[in-house]
Amino acid sequence: MHAIAVLDFGGQYAHLIARKIRELGVYSFVIEGDCKKEKLAEIQGLKGIVLSGGPASASDKNAPKIDREILKLHVPILGICYGHQLLAKLSGGKVAKGKNAEYGKTELKVLNKSLLLAGLKEREIVWMNHRDTVVKLPSSFNILASTQNCKIAAFENREKGLYGLQFHPEVSHTIKGKRILANFVFNICKAEPSYKEKDIINKIVEEAKQTIGNKKAIIGLSSGIDSSTAAMLVHKAIGKNLLAVYIDTGLMRYRETELVKRVFSKLGLNLRIVNAKKRFFAALKNVKNPERKRHIIGKLFIKIFEEIAKKEKAEFLVQGTIYSDRIESGITKYSARIKSHHNVAALPKRMRLKLYEPLRNLYKDEVRRIAKKLGLPKELIKRHVFPGPGLAIRVAGEVTPKKVAIVRKASYIVEEELKKAKLYDKVWMGFAILLPVKSVGIQGDARTYKYAVVVRIVCSEDAMTANFAKLPFSVLERISTRITNEIAEVNRVLYDITNKPPATMEWE
Ligand code: XMP
Repeated sequence: MHAIAVLDFGGQYAHLIARKIRELGVYSFVIEGDCKKEKLAEIQGLKGIVLSGGPASASDKNAPKIDREILKLHVPILGICYGHQLLAKLSGGKVAKGKNAEYGKTELKVLNKSLLLAGLKEREIVWMNHRDTVVKLPSSFNILASTQNCKIAAFENREKGLYGLQFHPEVSHTIKGKRILANFVFNICKAEPSYKEKDIINKIVEEAKQTIGNKKAIIGLSSGIDSSTAAMLVHKAIGKNLLAVYIDTGLMRYRETELVKRVFSKLGLNLRIVNAKKRFFAALKNVKNPERKRHIIGKLFIKIFEEIAKKEKAEFLVQGTIYSDRIESGITKYSARIKSHHNVAALPKRMRLKLYEPLRNLYKDEVRRIAKKLGLPKELIKRHVFPGPGLAIRVAGEVTPKKVAIVRKASYIVEEELKKAKLYDKVWMGFAILLPVKSVGIQGDARTYKYAVVVRIVCSEDAMTANFAKLPFSVLERISTRITNEIAEVNRVLYDITNKPPATMEWE
């Protein structure tokens, strides 16, 4: 199988480059920017290298370094943005701070015919994000395109197999970006499009075997797609040496524990279900602050894992962290920290277990496809996202078993009605929140004084922003009627009509 390596210099789009190449049917992966030539030379089927963008300035003393020797690998190299400048510098060119920065859509003027920009018209819209520019190149290099503020926006040296783009072909704003990447991958690197889901499965299984060897590993299983897929992959690699632990916190969705038991026993996983309801509710007693709740739950999760791991003599903790979880937490070597992600940030600094994250380089939809290939059932793959701290953050204020039972049932009704209306797959998620507020009502000719429940149904592409779902009132009415009819403690239902931002999807 042919492969293209993307050397990561901390750009927000490094993984997107690899992903776009995988979409072209060629295997591509991200590796640290300063990796040595020998490491790359060992990669079977390596047909090309891409140098990613990054936040550094190529003229900085502390700018990320690159092993010059990779130029001797005799595979084509494409530098993008920071990578473009780095490649120019390595080749004897000059990089300087531009007079004007260029951010956003920019018009590119194509100057010469080339392999890299084949199929582009004389003027094309590209997406720029830079201040430094390449100002000089040795005479053996061809300048292929320029913009108003950037004389050398693209270059090539066919003899040496070096190519550079100041703009980002991997983002959708660069209209012909896909064509440019395809030109590089197929016409320049001569890679063959033979990459399939089963290849990535085999690669991860192989990596898991190498990493864990004959040691024991433990994974925290939720009914979520990421941990389920990670568990199945590592199970394929090390079989019974993987212990999948499902902690029933008492904060799970309706019949979640049964679903996990049913699905994973069928798939042959070494599964242990731990009933820790009492411990979680005891730890949450009298706690109202949302961050404290998260903290307590995260810590107790890890504590229970560590107890089991110690007993079982496990040395590895497998986690289903995917690429987007990591980039938001600023985990890659050179990238800027944006925000802490719950699953990543919850881990204690000094953990006895070694961490292994088999899905760390994949996107959600890639994980979904792998999950399907691994035989995970649709009811699990299509399930709405559910937060790690569970229903505790859907009971506003203090969490008690009674309140959790109310919100669990209300959420189940929301989900069931969405499914009946064939809307479940169309929204990001739908659930209920229990408010710590009571109001007056009338039911069966009698005055009532009961809890209010909020229904929250949102649409989103990537969870970073969201809109409340504009559902038909008839669906909302059915949800409301069922909640007040079927849950004795509730007499009022509200629909949350706030977008994200300013609100988040969850209430806490
Ligand atoms: P927010 O509330 O931040 O939620 O708009 C965005 C998405 O992330 C989920 N979420 C979490 N998932 N642990 C998780 O694993 C958490 O602590 C957590 N908080 C929010 C949320 O359900 C939504 O899909």
